[in-house]
Amino acid sequence: MVENRYTAAYFSGIVALTVNDDTTKPWAGRFNEPTDAFVEAFTASIGFDKRLYPHDIAGSIAHARMLAKVGVLTAAERDTIIVGLEGILADINSGQFAWSVALEDVHMNIETRLTERIGAVGKKLHTGRSRNDQVATDVRLYLRDEIDAIATEVRRLQTALLDLAEPHCATIMPGFTHLQTAQPITFGHHLLAWFEMLQRDQQRLRDCRKRVNVMPLGAAALAGTTYPIDRQETARLLGFEAIAENSLDAVSDRDFAIEFAAFAAVLGMHLSRFAEELILWSSAQFRFIDLPDRFCTGSSIMPQKKNPDVPELVRGKSGRLFGNLMALLTLMKGQPLAYNKDNQEDKEPLFDSIDNVKGCLRVFADMLPHVQINPTAMLAAAQGGFSTATDLADYLVRKGVAFRDAHEIVGRTVRYAIETGKDLAQLSLAELQRFSSQLQADVVAVLSVEGSVAARNHLGATAPAQVQAAIKRARQRMVS
Ligand code: ARG
Repeated sequence: MVENRYTAAYFSGIVALTVNDDTTKPWAGRFNEPTDAFVEAFTASIGFDKRLYPHDIAGSIAHARMLAKVGVLTAAERDTIIVGLEGILADINSGQFAWSVALEDVHMNIETRLTERIGAVGKKLHTGRSRNDQVATDVRLYLRDEIDAIATEVRRLQTALLDLAEPHCATIMPGFTHLQTAQPITFGHHLLAWFEMLQRDQQRLRDCRKRVNVMPLGAAALAGTTYPIDRQETARLLGFEAIAENSLDAVSDRDFAIEFAAFAAVLGMHLSRFAEELILWSSAQFRFIDLPDRFCTGSSIMPQKKNPDVPELVRGKSGRLFGNLMALLTLMKGQPLAYNKDNQEDKEPLFDSIDNVKGCLRVFADMLPHVQINPTAMLAAAQGGFSTATDLADYLVRKGVAFRDAHEIVGRTVRYAIETGKDLAQLSLAELQRFSSQLQADVVAVLSVEGSVAARNHLGATAPAQVQAAIKRARQRMVS
């Protein structure tokens, strides 16, 4: 049989298969027959939620400490539970923990093992909580850590962009609109556009973190608990900035995961644009850059090929990042309060977005410092395509011609240049004066690409001095 996620072969690769062993199920009391073997595999989440184990254990330790503080556990019970949980953590870390499908998910696997390990006192850990508030807490703790790791990677990529921009503040390339040569720009300026996109992504991530860092624990199944719990204490122990105000909302909404997926989708969209330009620029038609060999692959049939697989894959990854956002929104839509098993489906899209965002950021941050820049090809391209035509029109305006008339004059000049196979800078003064007597000898400076970029000298524009200053500000603005 072909292996898929619900076959025994799939599970045996990732967990010790203990199918249909109902004696171990913590909720088996009210059931008359064992779970159907396929239903067991179908409903289990252990195959993917086991990655939550460090956070599940941290949450349980904080819960046990809080229970002892309010007198629900004795100090000795608390300590036995904590030692047991720490032992389980060590076992999982060293690969000595056999996950069981019959125990459904990470929470029941760990709790059941705890009782096997420390005896009946382990059964007291779940006092005053439910898997519903437990899973919501685990996912939030896990996502909080991942957000911090992702923020570091975004910063690393932003730094790589600034480091690459620094020596290229005055390197001239064509700027495009409609992918047609528009006006000359500096390469450093182009890189700073990418920096700004990442800066907003970073702000979105930071904002999302605030709403992730809210504690559901204490909501129990849905209505709260009859024990005299101290939610402030648990929140303090786990580093939560706030406590969920409503127990029904706390166990049911996954909008924090949706927000993260939205962040990831926007970042993925930005990286896909970044990727697309790297692909274009490294083509034989542009030759603006050369990607390092170790980030490219060859063709099995065409010996000359060096394919930009890394940016292509990053461009392609945006598809699953958008898809994961759509999956989470659809999963949540129309769910009645409070917890529903639908929510178990939050994990795979969320984890997939986390893994792929981290992968894309890492590979770009690693690659960027090794990209070779070809200023000669960039300059040559900027000099073609009549990129200083707007400068010529602006020159005429300064001589008193109305902008619309200047536009018309330059348009006719460009048509003449196309017909004679010349660029604007190659036209003689006599040729230029056929189109306007206002065109004088000083027009030559205006027609150069260097003059063009230097003239755009204000905040946010492409002049080398402005780019230099913008890099300096960017280093200070980077979200720490
Ligand atoms: N594995 C479940 C999930 O991921 C844990 C919560 C289960 N709660 C329940 N009442 N079935 O959502």
